[in-house]
Amino acid sequence: MFARSAPLLAGLAGLLALAAVSPGLAAPAAPRTTVVPGAIWPDDQGHHIQAHGGGILKLDDTYYWFGEDRGGETKGKKPADRAVSCYASTDLMNWEFRNQVIRTGPPEADVGSPFVFERPKVFHNRKTGKFVMYVHLDDKAYKLARVAVYTSDTVDGDYTFVHSFRPLGQESRDIGGFLDDDGSAYLVFEARPTRGFYIAKLSDDFLTVAEETCFIKSRLEGGALVKYDGLYYMIGSWMSGWAPNNNQYATATSLAGPWSEFRDIAPPGKKTYGSQSTLMLKVVGSKKTSVIFMGDMWRPANHRDGRYLWMPLEIGDGRLRLPEPREWSIDVATGEVVFK
Ligand code: GAL
Repeated sequence: MFARSAPLLAGLAGLLALAAVSPGLAAPAAPRTTVVPGAIWPDDQGHHIQAHGGGILKLDDTYYWFGEDRGGETKGKKPADRAVSCYASTDLMNWEFRNQVIRTGPPEADVGSPFVFERPKVFHNRKTGKFVMYVHLDDKAYKLARVAVYTSDTVDGDYTFVHSFRPLGQESRDIGGFLDDDGSAYLVFEARPTRGFYIAKLSDDFLTVAEETCFIKSRLEGGALVKYDGLYYMIGSWMSGWAPNNNQYATATSLAGPWSEFRDIAPPGKKTYGSQSTLMLKVVGSKKTSVIFMGDMWRPANHRDGRYLWMPLEIGDGRLRLPEPREWSIDVATGEVVFK
């Protein structure tokens, strides 16, 4: 695993040095009891989590966080390989590094090098048992505009390339994933020149896009979709590259629409508190259902230092609001959130 062995060796050397001067080994770091939006977020090995533009899959009581592993990038220089990492947590606050589930050069000849590999989203297909990952695959000029599909037999195993294509024959850049209550899976993708979001249903085996469910004509990307209390909520960001803007949301009673007008999720001018949407995570607890906004605070000059803005949303009755970021904790069993 690139960019991990060196710190690991340094960490071991540090531990040995510590053991030489102190009786017994150093105690492991205390478990994290809060989420601090925008802060460095160390995994169980002490490395800042590398899961940018991420997605979450829940299996039994464990949440798996997949995202762009930018650890191999130094100061904006793209390596020939791109990677996706997987972390696991049972409380959403403490994350264990599991595996660099993909580390690859360009999967197809026409992609070129360096290439773009962004916003991975993983689905579990209960019929085939496969874990299926969609990722935005592009050349460095963002002209190919395709998705690539990878599969694995285990959630945190090594994922292998299946194929790449333009969903519905359309240019596809930012992607989002959504699993509906009936088990149907959807890909959300931003398309140009049509300028808007497609919501497209995946095939039964999830390996390809089967049909268009809806096209939302609005110049947004970073699509994130959740169903809450019988209503679908979609968040998107304007197109300003890595720079933050005022993300917006719309609602619909059916995925096929009609969708409402888009409205700001935070006070205009706050630019989503410096973040861009990637996912809304629904935590269904015994007492409450909470929805957490997952945004990226990109740092394009040094992507590995990019931060995560995770905040519980105020949501319901067709309204959605991202509160001002502050420290919080969640009890995933009850779904209750406490702000510090
Ligand atoms: C953003 C997009 C990111 C990345 C970036 C490149 O708008 O959401 O995922 O593609 O542009 O400039």
